[in-house]
Amino acid sequence: MCTVACLLALFVFTSPAAHALDNGLALKPTMGWLHWERFMCNIDCDKYPNNCISERLYMQMADVMAKEGWKEVGYEYVCIDDCWPSHQRDAQGRLQADPKRFPGGIKKLADYVHSKGLKLGIYADVGEKTCAGYPGSLGFYETDAQTFADWGVDLLKFDGCYMDYTLLGEGYANMSKALNKTGRSILYSCEWPLYEWPFRKPNYTAIREACNQWRNSADVYDSWSSVKSILDWTASHEDVIVPSAGPGGWNDPDMLVIGNFGLSHAQQESQMALWAIMAAPLLMSNDLRDICPRSKELLQNRYIIAISQDPMGKQGYRTAAVDNFELWVRPLSKDRLAVAVFNKLEIGGPRVVSFRAVSLIAVPGWKICDPQCNVTQILPRYKEIGVQTPHSEITVSINPSGTALLTVTPRQKLYWEDTPKRHKRIIV
Ligand code: GLA
Repeated sequence: MCTVACLLALFVFTSPAAHALDNGLALKPTMGWLHWERFMCNIDCDKYPNNCISERLYMQMADVMAKEGWKEVGYEYVCIDDCWPSHQRDAQGRLQADPKRFPGGIKKLADYVHSKGLKLGIYADVGEKTCAGYPGSLGFYETDAQTFADWGVDLLKFDGCYMDYTLLGEGYANMSKALNKTGRSILYSCEWPLYEWPFRKPNYTAIREACNQWRNSADVYDSWSSVKSILDWTASHEDVIVPSAGPGGWNDPDMLVIGNFGLSHAQQESQMALWAIMAAPLLMSNDLRDICPRSKELLQNRYIIAISQDPMGKQGYRTAAVDNFELWVRPLSKDRLAVAVFNKLEIGGPRVVSFRAVSLIAVPGWKICDPQCNVTQILPRYKEIGVQTPHSEITVSINPSGTALLTVTPRQKLYWEDTPKRHKRIIV
């Protein structure tokens, strides 16, 4: 059993390092659905009529998102990834959708998605070709930005394949300007730092000024080892990347793979909890037409979504890693905290861990649970743990590769209640 001492955390919450891209978008982490991890570059609509990259896929996903509670809890963007275009630009040099798979064209698809109260995302690449070999935007930034705006697109995921790394910064910044020039609000999702890290440390000030979110680490796969490696990458680079996140711009650890084939339920809970702690975009890549009820309930959990979407918009940190437990803490508005205790051991049964509120944070002047706070457990199941003091022990039980997610809410509004007999200190 791990006690208070082993979970002692020391870190400082800093403000965002730079100004965000000033397009009024992504004030909270983006929520929606993105096709890549689940549907990849499946263009064989004869063999896979329901699962190929075609207008039908996005229309059906939009239908389900509007009908089955997804839109209601905040999932808003229906996003196309690679493999949507024709291999040739049109006579005017514009990108065009593959005519067989998108007979109505993207504008009609955008209209359809909008009619459901949702938004449409599209994909392009800063270089000569997309990662799957479709036409890239190099040399066509203004044309492509204007085409997307004309079609009524609301988000652009801009990949970084087939581009000299020394030109990445210029390319991403120029596309940002081109999008801005269209006058349409288009959320700009970049992969700039992912392609720059192998060569040099990216300039997060410049990235935040140009992009609304940015991928840092490798593509997510439908496997626990992939999710774990993204978490490890994030934790080991947190001093560099966390300060750059805030309203208007977010670190993007890639899609949620909840509801697919590779993760156990405890692992799905860990991904959901830790993506909320990381203030990550919540872009699901799964088949919403056929998803298991438990995964759906997890993805639609309003308490976790409230953490993700907290208006203060600070990303959390991994604050301790001891005895195969990790402690992740995210400061929330109104002096609240979200705390995730992640059991990394992949053998045995549930492990019990106890810690004291006072050990969660050590910032001079910060008082946790002083004199009291309310602790609520959100995962693995909702439970009011109740009133705590700085030194009372909070105990949780966590399955292998699972996560306990808690919120800590101060009760520091004090007043004195007059009674005829005595003055009594009341905490409300
Ligand atoms: C890259 C990106 C992925 C996806 C594919 C598409 O690998 O990182 O997210 O967009 O390209 O080809």
